[in-house]
Parts: sequence; structure tokens; C-alpha cells
Amino acid sequence: MENHHSHTKLMELILMTYAQIKPQLRCQLEPTDTGLTVTRHGSSYDISGLPISPTLVSKIFTQFNGERAVSEVIEEHGSVSIDQVGMIIDSFHESGFLIKNVAADSTTGLGCLLELEDLQNKLMYETLYENVFWTNCQNPEGVPQNVFYGMAIENYHFLFRESWFDAPILGLPGSIDARVLMNEFFCEEYGHDELILKSLNELGITREEIYRTVPLPETLALCNALAHWAATDPLFFFSTMGVLEGKDLKIDSYVSAMEGSEKIDDKFIKYIRDHSNINLNDGHGNLSREIFKKFPIVSLDEVARLKSKTHLFIEIYDRFYSAIWNHYSNSSTLLRLIEH
Ligand SMILES: [Fe+2]
Ligand SMILES: [Fe+2]
Repeated sequence: MENHHSHTKLMELILMTYAQIKPQLRCQLEPTDTGLTVTRHGSSYDISGLPISPTLVSKIFTQFNGERAVSEVIEEHGSVSIDQVGMIIDSFHESGFLIKNVAADSTTGLGCLLELEDLQNKLMYETLYENVFWTNCQNPEGVPQNVFYGMAIENYHFLFRESWFDAPILGLPGSIDARVLMNEFFCEEYGHDELILKSLNELGITREEIYRTVPLPETLALCNALAHWAATDPLFFFSTMGVLEGKDLKIDSYVSAMEGSEKIDDKFIKYIRDHSNINLNDGHGNLSREIFKKFPIVSLDEVARLKSKTHLFIEIYDRFYSAIWNHYSNSSTLLRLIEH
């Protein structure tokens, strides 16, 4: 019930946003046989492949004078899809043919995410990158073998549960584009736990064995928090994905630490490296940005709300890594089996 409710709320947020926008056209439009000729500052451009008829685009967009809301204008044109008009607004805006006129008490989706990313980075530099796990990884020779293995085990537990938090937002109403991106991502992520399992197999750990183990409480806390946010606060969940998928990273520090350690066989590293290359090469770290670009407006109240939650997320994420160090550097056994 809560789930349904919050998705409806998000949908309202997205649709409302277009109602609030009072865009201003900054060019002349002339419909042609195949599309539109756009003229601005004496230069003309031809646009084709519009999602609605060029004549209709011209009729609607020439009424955008900065004083009329999008919803008000399109109401006069029967059943025009707000999604499609929104798409054209966004691309005109990117090309400088139109000013969006976002209200002063709000920002764009991307603007919102950039603010959140600033805060995420600040908090990560203060805590996560300074924590016992990541500082020790800078001197790989001193890292106990079991810490590297333990990281893989906890990562397996995390990825094994990824559908808990990716699945609730697959049906997200309100933005078809965001939904498509999320579904593509879900398909790409499917089975990544199997890659890590292959590395664990190299240590002689079988699927049956790992199935009888429990993750560290901090790993489960991260999974549960993400599952909760995915079900109740999709916008916030989207903002966490860039961090989890390693945005801005060119290399995976865990992989390079293992490579720098003489205690770890390359057969073990191989599959973990494969997984991290998928993230790097498929641009998974960019997904938050791609999705937030699909939300035209986020109110500043909403930004403030998301920011306050970011503190909790980074703290939970920091503890995930610290716990791996604290447990596996002190434990002679790798597996936390359920039975005695
Ligand atoms: Fe993955
Ligand atoms: Fe990924």
C-alpha cells in the first residue's frame, strides 16, 4: 500500500512539474513536409523525426511565451501526450531554442542530483575513503588474505539480493524513459552474483556452502535500507545507484589492491575484475544521472529532504566496508555458517 502510494506521489511530482513549467520559445518555427525548420539568430536548422506532427508542434510551441504553463497550452490541443511534448521541450532546451523557466523554488532533475553528488562526495571523503578498509587497501601487502576473500563473500551476498531493491522500481509510473533505463539496467545486472561465485569456487567454496551462510549484519543493513528506499522513495533510491555502481571511477580500488597483493591468485581476481569491468564499460555509474535527467523539475524542499537522507546512506555504506575489515581481519574462518 505504502509502495503504491509513494509511486503515485512520484508520478504526480513528475507530471506536476510540466504543469508548472512556463517555457519561452526563443526561435521561429516553420513546419515543412518532413519536420520543422527552426530559425534562431539568422541560422536555420532542420529537425525531423518528431514524435508528434510538425504542424502541431509548431502550433503548441509558438504559444510558449513564458507566461503560459505547458498543461494550459496543450489542453487546447486535444489528446497530446505530455510525455512527448516534454521530450521536445527538453531537446529544444538543450539546443537553446527554448528557456524552460523553472520556478525559483525548484531545480532540474540533474541539478538536484549534482547537489546530492556533491554531498555524497564530501561525506565519502570524510568517512568511507578514510575508513579502515579503504585506507588499508592502499598498502595491499599489509591486507590479510581473508579480508580480500571476505569482501568477495559480502559482495556476493549483496549482489545475490540485488533484485530486492532493483525490482520494486521496475514498474515506476510517470516516466517511461526512466522505466526503460531501469529495466535495461535490471537485465544487465541479472546474474552478476554468479560471477563472484565463480571466484569463490576457486577457493573451494561451493554454492551449497554459501547458501548456508549469513552475511554480516552491516551487509544486510545495506540491502534492507536499499530495498526500503526502492519501495518507498524511488527518487532517493535512484540517487544511491551512482555511488553503488562506482560513478566517476576509472578503476576498481579493490581489484587493484588484490592485484598489488602477492597473496591473491589471479584465478580468483579474474571474475571480480570481469564484474567491475562490466560496471565501468557499460557506464552503470552514470545511471543515476541518466535517470535524473528524465525528471524535469524537483522542488528545493525535495532536494533538502533527499540531502538529509544521504547522510544515512553514506553512513550505512561506510559501515559495510568497515565491518568487512573488522570481521575478516580477525577471523580465521571465512564462512559464517548458520548451523553449529
Ligand atoms: Fe553488477
Ligand atoms: Fe552494475
